[in-house]
Amino acid sequence: MRWTAFVQKRGVLNIASDKEIIVTNACYIGLGSIVLLPNACGGRSLISKGGRFPPNRVSAPFKRTDELRILLQTGRSYFVTAAMFSFAINLLYLAGPLYMLQVYDRVISSASEVTLVMLTIALLLAFMALAGLDAVRARVLTRASIRLDQRIATRVMTAIINRSASFGGARSQLLRDFDTFRQFITGMGIHAIFDLPWAPLYIAVIFALHPALGAFALGCSILLILMAFLNEWIVKPPLMESNEAASRNYSFTEMSLRNTEVVRAMGMTEGLLNRWGRDRNRMLERQVTASDRAATMQSVIRFLRLSMQSLILGLGAYLVIERLATVGAMFAASILLGRALQPVEQIVGSWRNLVSARGAFLRVRELLMANPQRETGLSLPRPHGRLLVEALTFVPPLSNKPILRGVAFGIEPGEVLGIIGPSGAGKSTLARHIVGVLTPSAGAVRLDGSDVSVWARTSLGQHLGYLPQDIELFADSIAANISRFQEGEDREAILAAQMAGVHDMIVRLPNGYDTQVGEGGAILSGGYRQRIALARAVYGNPSLVVLDEPSSNLDADGDAALTDCIMQLKQRGTTVVIISHRPSTIGVVDKILLLKDGVAEMFGPRAEVMSRLTRAVPVPVHAVQSTAS
Ligand SMILES: Nc1ncnc2c1ncn2[C@@H]1O[C@H](COP(=O)(O)OP(=O)(O)O)[C@@H](O)[C@H]1O
Ligand SMILES: [Mg+2]
Repeated sequence: MRWTAFVQKRGVLNIASDKEIIVTNACYIGLGSIVLLPNACGGRSLISKGGRFPPNRVSAPFKRTDELRILLQTGRSYFVTAAMFSFAINLLYLAGPLYMLQVYDRVISSASEVTLVMLTIALLLAFMALAGLDAVRARVLTRASIRLDQRIATRVMTAIINRSASFGGARSQLLRDFDTFRQFITGMGIHAIFDLPWAPLYIAVIFALHPALGAFALGCSILLILMAFLNEWIVKPPLMESNEAASRNYSFTEMSLRNTEVVRAMGMTEGLLNRWGRDRNRMLERQVTASDRAATMQSVIRFLRLSMQSLILGLGAYLVIERLATVGAMFAASILLGRALQPVEQIVGSWRNLVSARGAFLRVRELLMANPQRETGLSLPRPHGRLLVEALTFVPPLSNKPILRGVAFGIEPGEVLGIIGPSGAGKSTLARHIVGVLTPSAGAVRLDGSDVSVWARTSLGQHLGYLPQDIELFADSIAANISRFQEGEDREAILAAQMAGVHDMIVRLPNGYDTQVGEGGAILSGGYRQRIALARAVYGNPSLVVLDEPSSNLDADGDAALTDCIMQLKQRGTTVVIISHRPSTIGVVDKILLLKDGVAEMFGPRAEVMSRLTRAVPVPVHAVQSTAS
């Protein structure tokens, strides 16, 4: 029984989704007493039965800390202050009922006008203090929100950038999520939450007036809180669904706007709108359900509160008739009860915001957990460029079909490796592992012995050059693109452009290096976009350059420039990994890796692999691995 559960969890773990790792962690904890089990289950025989791959025990982010909570705790002093203010505010609210008690039970019976004036002055002072404290509490919460933004927003943005390597979707949505949450903690809803804990104070005072009134008030509060839970139960599901649909809709909108040319050229607008409207209609439909339910609940709660406030007056009147309580107590109890129940009604009224804020909080928390902060303090020296790939396996999130399986090879500094293989073989995925934008499910990529997925991105990034298959240029000047947005000398950018053989073409442009390339490099032709991306990859003398199909858009000139660039890199001692099929490019590589279906079929010196390829004799994988080690 336990075994099945464990093996199933193993399968889940293989998905390598961070969410599921929690489950598996829980499983480890649950079975914690049986120390041998994880090892026993790690046996290959067991895993290969299901056709699954061993989970990574080296570099998967097993350790998940609730970073958002820790960050929020740094703003704790603000919330503690706000809570203290809430206490004072709620104490001061007692002035109203107290005044009423005194006026009815003392002033009127004794007909003392001086007492009335004194009491009134005291009351006004108390109310002024209350209003002041309320304003200060609002200010404290606003400051907390700003403080949190300063602490957390850049961290959230970093996590979004890191995450987008493996997921699609609306990336800016997550920053909006953070804003939703941040705005909520300064909105009116949060004030009600701060006031709610003081409701027992009012009920205690009502008890002091008369136990029967107190018991009635307690009963009313419990009933109203139960209604609030009922509200949560019936309103939350449609609200969540509506929010999810909205988020999908936004991400689809974002994507459509990036591809408007295709949409317009091929008359896709209508189809696109249909697809776009699907989530939008779903969002609206669920929103209507949620709003209807919320409105009903709010009316019911209002009815209850109004009735309760009057009923307690009735009960008070009865006690007055029976001479068990005073008229002042009767009125005071009614006011106190109204005050005790008000936060519940307010919270239910702003339930929508509460639910969105909570959803947003959870998403941001998940984001931060899944993308732990990389060590940034450590700045390692420039690596020599010895690249070692060890039993690299990658299973993308939410799937159990590995894209890379046990790929292993190694190259020395200054060597040029050509990766060949049919499309869909996993070449680009391998390239993305080598530059560390994807984290392996098992195995590791090491540059000079350091695991690239752990190495601080900023400190490693300057020693890496990467030309992705989908060239991503930024809507800025050519110089800014080549120099990776680094402030510095233009000389470096020009050197890089010369190396990529694109300098002459750039200076012929009207604005030269200051030419704005437009969204994604729109104003440049495909070949020039690729060559500028090549210049960006070789900028700043990197130790390792990874080029993913750099010649796909190049003409003969561009091809010659690329070959020339590779030769120069080689002379400099830069390690180069290049994915290409062009004979001219393959002609300059030292070693070749043939990738098929995510498996390294052949690896070795160029001549050897080429002759084997022409003879078409497959080489077993273990032979390939032993070459690497
Ligand atoms: N994030 C991902 N999630 C699921 N499948 C993916 C992901 N990235 C790539 N793939 C799949 O992995 C396979 C290899 O892709 P890729 O590395 O781009 O191949 P190549 O560059 O060799 O043409 C393809 O079948 C592709 O659909
Ligand atoms: Mg590819």
